[in-house]
Amino acid sequence: MKKFKVVILFIWALFASCTQVDFKVVATASSPTKREIKAKLKLLNKPSVKTIKSEDGDIIDCVDIYKQSAFDHPALKDHKLQKIPDFLIESKNSSNLQTKSIVFQTWQKNGSCPEGTIPIRRIRTEDLSRAASLNLFGRKPIMHFMKSTNNTNSNYPIVNGSFAYVPENRTKAFLVTVGYSYIGAEAEINVWNPRVDLPDDFTTAQIWLKTGNGPQYFESIESGWQVNPKLYGDRSTRFFAHWTTDSYKSTGCFDVVCPGFVQVGQVVLGGAITPISYSYHTQKEIPVGMYWDNSGNWWLKVNNHIVGYWPAKLLSGLSRSAKSVEWGGQVYSPMLKKNTPHTRTAMGSGEAADGRWGNACYMRNLRIKDYSRNLKYPEYVSTRAEEPYCYNVINEAKYGQEPILYFGGPGFKPPYCP
Ligand SMILES: *[C@@H]1O[C@H](CO)[C@@H](O)[C@H](O)[C@H]1NC(C)=O
Ligand SMILES: *[C@@H]1O[C@H](CO)[C@@H](O)[C@H](O)[C@H]1NC(C)=O
Ligand SMILES: *[C@@H]1O[C@H](CO)[C@@H](O)[C@H](O)[C@H]1NC(C)=O
Ligand SMILES: *[C@@H]1O[C@H](CO)[C@@H](O)[C@H](O)[C@H]1NC(C)=O
Ligand SMILES: *[C@@H]1O[C@H](CO)[C@@H](O)[C@H](O)[C@H]1NC(C)=O
Repeated sequence: MKKFKVVILFIWALFASCTQVDFKVVATASSPTKREIKAKLKLLNKPSVKTIKSEDGDIIDCVDIYKQSAFDHPALKDHKLQKIPDFLIESKNSSNLQTKSIVFQTWQKNGSCPEGTIPIRRIRTEDLSRAASLNLFGRKPIMHFMKSTNNTNSNYPIVNGSFAYVPENRTKAFLVTVGYSYIGAEAEINVWNPRVDLPDDFTTAQIWLKTGNGPQYFESIESGWQVNPKLYGDRSTRFFAHWTTDSYKSTGCFDVVCPGFVQVGQVVLGGAITPISYSYHTQKEIPVGMYWDNSGNWWLKVNNHIVGYWPAKLLSGLSRSAKSVEWGGQVYSPMLKKNTPHTRTAMGSGEAADGRWGNACYMRNLRIKDYSRNLKYPEYVSTRAEEPYCYNVINEAKYGQEPILYFGGPGFKPPYCP
């Protein structure tokens, strides 16, 4: 009788282990295994010299500047770290740049990183497990286009012959300039904390610098703020950067969650921004700029601090110049355009552009730099909203005054945005 029981146990154990193996195989195909997550975390989180616990729950690792993950990129194996851009070296009073040192990131209340190190937001297991796959972690989703013979559902500009290419699952309200080679762009971006509705949704207020061949093949570097619970695990407004050299297909990512962006300054990419704006209160803004230098690197600056750069070796056409600049907001969601009900994820402040100062999200002091090297207001600008009844855009350009760009909206709002 005892022997019989043992045999049954043995068979059960064999069966159980088989199902477990089976399960593991399935798990590899869809969601990452523990071992894969551990390996990825080891790659992402470099050893820290000092650790800062931010009151918002973030852990900030101070990492040796020469040991940052950028150098894991194959194109950057022999890359010589550049600590300051050459356009600052050229200018005599570069030291002035760092004087306006106001706290704009939450973690800064709890410490700073020692010299020779850079602050990096630690990625945790739960961050990775929210991603569709480890490979897709921290990247803007791939763009797919609905080919539409009608331009009615949106006034999207991408028209090829009689076809309009309408991007799926994302919507923008923005101002664009084209016509020159751009080697810099900046703006002061008003900071809000808009609602994010569905688990995959995110919302941004940002600047794009792009080059490439049409809507489906481009390189871009981008920066601004976003609310992105899937990436960050909360609904805070966070400073971000993003790059891609193949229209989000396989290269690039947000912040420094993949090798590429070389960080040199004391700003945390993906760090929460504080304080933010409220209706009818003092408006908060962050100046964001991206500037090309003579070696083809693109430098990112926020709040007068150098963050770091996208090395020329990472880029192709962009290492020479950008062919368009865009300023505005983007909402990513599976529930947009033809899919109803429309997502309630908001853009900007959540108010339409008509709300103007104190209500709607704005950008001001929009500037571009061309080969003349002077920062100036772009010559040709046009505004576009893909779903103007959900999120709109107004460029308020009164004669003799600095133009102000307003954009945003609440998303779902029947009957206009059903
Ligand atoms: C930079 O230096 C020049 C010449 O000394 C001076 O005129 C200018 O005001 C300075 N700029 C700033 C921002 O301090
Ligand atoms: C961070 O700093 C704030 C303000 O100084 C303080 O109240 C809080 O306790 C600190 N948090 C940690 C984790 O040290
Ligand atoms: C074009 O728009 C009209 C009116 O909105 C609609 O009835 C028609 O189905 C659309 N055609 C295509 C091909 O999308
Ligand atoms: C426009 O359409 C033609 C023919 O369908 C295609 O070859 C070309 O790549 C398209 N251009 C863009 C920018 O999408
Ligand atoms: C858009 O969202 C739907 C629903 O989640 C998804 O099936 C589809 O693959 C998405 N398309 C793109 C291009 O991401």
